[in-house]
Amino acid sequence: MTIMSDDQGWILQTAHTAYALAINEAGYLVQRYWGARLPHQDDYPPPPEADGWASFNGPGQLLPEEYPAYAGPKYVEPCLKVTFADGVRDTVLQFERAEVSEDTLELHFHDVHYPLHLTLHYRLHTTDDLIERSVSLTNAGATPITLERVLSAQWHPPQRGKYRLSHLAGRWLDEFRLHRDWLPHGVTRLESRRLTTSHHHNPWFALDDGRANEDDGEVWFGTLAWSGNWVLLAEETDFGATRVSLGINDWDFAWLLEPGETFTTPSAYAGWTDGGFGAASRTLHDYVRAHLPHGDQLHAILYNSWEATLFDVSEAGQAQLAEVAASLGVELFVVDDGWFKSRLWDNAGLGDWTPDPVKFPHGLTPLIEGVKALGMEFGIWIEPEMVNPDSDLYRAHPDWVINFPTRARTTARSQLILNLARTDVQDYLITQFDALLRDHDIRFVKWDMNRNISEPGWPAAPREPRELWVRYVQGVYRVWGTLRARHPHVIWQSCSGGGGRADLAILRHADQIWVSDNTEATARLRIQEGFSQCFPAQVMEAWVTDAGRGQVPLEFRFHVSMSGVLGLGGNLLQWSDDERATAARWIAYYKQIRAIVQLGDQYRLLSAHDGQFSAMQYMDKERNHGVVFAYRVWLPDPTILPPIRLRGLIPDAHYEIQGIDGERSGLAWMRDGLRLPLANLESAVHTIRRLD
Ligand code: DGJ
Repeated sequence: MTIMSDDQGWILQTAHTAYALAINEAGYLVQRYWGARLPHQDDYPPPPEADGWASFNGPGQLLPEEYPAYAGPKYVEPCLKVTFADGVRDTVLQFERAEVSEDTLELHFHDVHYPLHLTLHYRLHTTDDLIERSVSLTNAGATPITLERVLSAQWHPPQRGKYRLSHLAGRWLDEFRLHRDWLPHGVTRLESRRLTTSHHHNPWFALDDGRANEDDGEVWFGTLAWSGNWVLLAEETDFGATRVSLGINDWDFAWLLEPGETFTTPSAYAGWTDGGFGAASRTLHDYVRAHLPHGDQLHAILYNSWEATLFDVSEAGQAQLAEVAASLGVELFVVDDGWFKSRLWDNAGLGDWTPDPVKFPHGLTPLIEGVKALGMEFGIWIEPEMVNPDSDLYRAHPDWVINFPTRARTTARSQLILNLARTDVQDYLITQFDALLRDHDIRFVKWDMNRNISEPGWPAAPREPRELWVRYVQGVYRVWGTLRARHPHVIWQSCSGGGGRADLAILRHADQIWVSDNTEATARLRIQEGFSQCFPAQVMEAWVTDAGRGQVPLEFRFHVSMSGVLGLGGNLLQWSDDERATAARWIAYYKQIRAIVQLGDQYRLLSAHDGQFSAMQYMDKERNHGVVFAYRVWLPDPTILPPIRLRGLIPDAHYEIQGIDGERSGLAWMRDGLRLPLANLESAVHTIRRLD
């Protein structure tokens, strides 16, 4: 049994973890336990009670409530806050009943006075060691209820002292920087107010007591499957308890729950491990891969024309690039921005999704056929959510953009955002891109989104206009989901000026993510490593471009991209014969190792966040084959480089490392390690093979 009921409540058990909760004597739903799975049912502690509370400290301050609603004397961060039609802003929940199945638990509550019903949904991902939580609220009354905060979950690590919070922060061109800080007393708020997941913070978190490292130690971790405004509230309370709440951002949020309607939150996921940050990441990697639209497929090596041509796209120019790309072993040729009507620069064309008649006088088909004749598949870039004021679409429908009528429409990159909360806008986009995909043999689409929101107005909204934040994201999912269902063979890439939309929900639509517009290899090392905290290499598209050409060896640039989904993005027409030969060699090599990189277990051996010498390893699930990458950026000489201690090997099996003398036991490679004498800006890649 994965979910058990006892007289104390419910115990949710995954392969290695357990999470216990119960209604305590005072009627609060509280967490009893979260950590290693214990042998016996009666090993799990009884629900805590709020003993000894005083007039300044109610039960809300003292209890690890599973889903605290704002009610009574509660000053800690609640998950739920609503206003009833009579102005009452206090929600008193009473437990009604539980529904238990093999891997789901539903706990039903209602407000003691108002006809508001709340269900907490738990789903166990048993083999993945993850718990998924979401919440739905139903208005069973006759008057509307305004929802002001409806988070997906609150998680409580055990109350044992202070915790460190690991999270990812950054900005455009510098995403996924790992931060690991002790939580201060009070509330730490991480969020997006940008309409997308954002480059600036990502909803992934990990908590530890300061003793965890990559390989060992207890880590409580999680993330949110949502591609819009989100909030993470990490609170250390006055009584030294730590809790993390995750959900749709309540900033500028309101949702009018009309009679008979139900609002359901996105899912939050969390897990526990005693295998350190590395094991936490591998847990998420496995889960993400298992739920991708084409998770069992290895990704093709693509060429993307953006950095080579910018908007200067033409049939002849693209055909020339395609010819070189094919000769190097590239498998998929992607035309980026600039192919559609009037798109000479970024100030026109977005919204008019037909091939530019000057650049492509006979449409896209001749280029597509040419690419296919070269043995490659064809892919294309689109930016569905955007419109340039200089476009036929905007001239016809100026009312379709997000705006406040009395305010200027602030453009960014000369573009405005279509209001995808509107079903007419969604339907229009579905029609446009359905036709594009139906009329052309397109196997790959890069869906881009190149600005953040301003003036978040929804003129003539049929409902509460602040629902925009959520309905927009639901609109993106509807358009994307419809296109994906109609064209199931297409592989999609999520891009938002790089890694601005990377989350578990978009990865139900997209197969991979464009991690950053920063393609300079030494900077990428850190960006890619940060990304790996939550996401597997299988979804990490990484191009070799001309950034750093002349300073950083091409081989180094290849090795960085080969630790994800290898792609090319340089101007191949300017590459010398030597450069092309190097590229062809590493493309061929990558084809041999890509199954290990994309589907294997990933180990961060030496962190690029910590220093100038870093290493990353991937092992197949059987622990027979692996690959290790090492990179030295810049260190003064003389320098003694640390040994690279491998991970994930079978201790008493024997392994050889290609290019390194000697067969050694897994234990020797893991304990003593491998020494690589790299000079500045040198890198290495070695395959690992089990011999017995
Ligand atoms: C931003 C993307 O991240 C780039 O790769 C490229 O597609 C440009 N947009 C095109 O406008």
